[in-house]
Amino acid sequence: MALKNINPTKTNAWSKLTNHFNDIQNINIKDLDKEPNRKEEFSLKLNDLSVDFSKNRITKETLNLLVELAKEVDLKDAVEKQFSGEVINVTEGREVLHTALRSTSDEPLLVGGKNIKPQIQAALRKIKSFSNKVISGKWKGYTGKSITDIVNIGIGGSDLGPDMVVESLKYYKNQLTTHFVSNVDGDHVSEVIKNLDPETTLFVIVSKTFTTQETISNAETIKNWFLKSATIFDIPKHFVAVSTNLEAVDNFGIDKANVFPMWNWVGGRFSLWSAVGLSISLSVGYDNYKALLEGAEEMDLHFKNEDFDTNIPVILALLSIWYNNFYGAETEAVLPYSQYLSKLPAYLQQAIMESNGKGVDRNGDAIEYQTGTIVWGSTGTNMQHAFMQLVHQGTKLIPADFIGYKESLYGLDDHHKKLMANYYGQMDALAFGKTKEEVHLELKVAGDEAKIATLLPFKVFEGNRPSNAILFEKLTPRSMGKLISLYEHKIFTQGVLWNIYSYDQFGVELGKELAKKLLKTQ
Ligand code: F6P
Repeated sequence: MALKNINPTKTNAWSKLTNHFNDIQNINIKDLDKEPNRKEEFSLKLNDLSVDFSKNRITKETLNLLVELAKEVDLKDAVEKQFSGEVINVTEGREVLHTALRSTSDEPLLVGGKNIKPQIQAALRKIKSFSNKVISGKWKGYTGKSITDIVNIGIGGSDLGPDMVVESLKYYKNQLTTHFVSNVDGDHVSEVIKNLDPETTLFVIVSKTFTTQETISNAETIKNWFLKSATIFDIPKHFVAVSTNLEAVDNFGIDKANVFPMWNWVGGRFSLWSAVGLSISLSVGYDNYKALLEGAEEMDLHFKNEDFDTNIPVILALLSIWYNNFYGAETEAVLPYSQYLSKLPAYLQQAIMESNGKGVDRNGDAIEYQTGTIVWGSTGTNMQHAFMQLVHQGTKLIPADFIGYKESLYGLDDHHKKLMANYYGQMDALAFGKTKEEVHLELKVAGDEAKIATLLPFKVFEGNRPSNAILFEKLTPRSMGKLISLYEHKIFTQGVLWNIYSYDQFGVELGKELAKKLLKTQ
């Protein structure tokens, strides 16, 4: 059975939320913060992860009503349907089972009457043995040399996830150098191959469909470049593929033994947990790759089993709906205080916006409420010197997730103390601001009394700007898996509440078609 079809705005909870919003819309985080135990009551923990969402324009009543909304649209039923492999991607007639890729349970999971768990295990074994061979140097190129460089050729979900995770787990990397080619812009591929040695480079072509213009163009260009020094008989030693389209892979010349599976029940933007993540396993080793999956599973189980009011992805999704649909916030910022996570915002842009950027509901009717949030961001502290001016003093309401780590990886304590002081300082500044009185006093103390009349309004921070503190002990493969899985479930929850189909992406097609037509006329 498909997902239920309930217009959220027609629920009782929505009416109550509307009234409640009218009552409390002018509440101030500064006042809320004075409540005893506010921080404890508005924080959640999951082992090494804690989420403090006390700096939001919400009361207990807001949370209760948002949870009531989740119950009224039967989020529980949707979660069960997703995990158990129902065809919830109705418009494409597919199951949505990225969670199965990281499940360690032996319980069979049927797709089309067939248990998929053995295929998943077999793919993991293949990833493991291949990664081990390449990393250990046993896998030889066509002149007998070991591999030094990996090039992932893919785009969208076949690029962003692996690229983001490889960058995030750089600390755990081995001796192999990993490159990513995605854009059809020939300068991209040219820049990547210019310093590569065909004798020691392994190309991983990742494309679920194996028809994507960008990926196939880049793969062909690279093959031609490779064949300037080698022969077609050398291709199996240097090209492997991850795809569902075995025929196209075969036509490309890739040895069947070097094809890693992908499945229709895994969406592109949720596929880094499959062999699409091969370049991750090659870069940080299979054990770290497995730890990433284990972290994701930990979050899966939390999401699946925890009550909504203590469920981290559900709470973050509901808060996002509160701002998007009641306060009219247009965007959300994701702000990791770790340079390793510099590619997370771009990754989340695809995951969130390709999933929930939908304007028709599950009836196919035009939607009259706001759906998909626009997500953007960059790393702290760099962004403090860039766009944070607008977040602090601009006219827009921008709820922000601040992602941080208690410990740094290299242990430069002095740096880490400064980094985390900024992490907390920014959230306090956003929430509590600086009043006229405070600015007045500050200028007076500084002996700038003459300037008070002219400068005062420009130095005031109105505050009351919401944020969530998402804090891990340490950046590890496991905590990274947990973080990504958290956002995946947030996306799913929001799609369920907005009564849309989150797992298709027809909106990317028209531009592709028109580009093809234009190409033919050239
Ligand atoms: O841009 C649309 C899209 O289908 C994404 O959803 C997907 O991740 C990407 O293209 C790449 O697709 P493929 O893996 O089939 O090359």
